Amino acid sequence: MTAAAPGFRVRLADWARDVEALRRIRHAVFVVEQQVPADLEWDGIDGDCRHALAEDAAGRPIGCGRLLADGHVGRMAVLAPWRGRGVGAALLDRLVEEARRAGQRRVVLNAQTRALGFYARHGFVPFGEEFVEAGIAHRAMERPLD
Ligand SMILES: CC(C)(COP(=O)(O)OP(=O)(O)OC[C@H]1O[C@@H](n2cnc3c(N)ncnc32)[C@H](O)[C@@H]1OP(=O)(O)O)[C@@H](O)C(=O)NCCC(=O)NCCS
Repeated sequence: MTAAAPGFRVRLADWARDVEALRRIRHAVFVVEQQVPADLEWDGIDGDCRHALAEDAAGRPIGCGRLLADGHVGRMAVLAPWRGRGVGAALLDRLVEEARRAGQRRVVLNAQTRALGFYARHGFVPFGEEFVEAGIAHRAMERPLD
């Protein structure tokens, strides 16, 4: 585990071992809060992704994100009471670090339009037109790693 900030920690997670924690966060944030259909949320590729998991001081899961083998970051989610405290930033940093270690030259993501500012503050630049996925407006963004 690596310390990220007082009150929580971010670590790499394993889909098989940490499936319950990862599913609990994404169910609360995407399926319940954002009304993403469950069959879109559980897209069958989690077993092929690297995952980052944030836990509070008691070890309870509070946030997560994933990195695909092609350098795409996705499914960034922080439980509502924990937002605005740097958990999302720490998760994103961890996934970008993983992408760099894996030899990726850039990290790409599809940002919900409302989260563009969050990713822009972490070096991501939007490209292409806005599009709708799971009923939510998105924009592609990238961050070169060179
Ligand atoms: C996007 C998300 C992962 C960010 O996580 P987070 O832990 O709030 O992120 P941080 O605390 O590192 O940064 C959030 C930014 O919003 C600001 N903020 C303040 N209060 C906030 C709140 N209640 N909710 C969200 N953002 C808040 C912070 O100041 C911060 O700005 P900064 O980057 O200039 O410091 C989180 O808001 C979330 O889970 N949203 C719902 C799911 C979602 O939209 N995921 C993204 C899909 S692309």
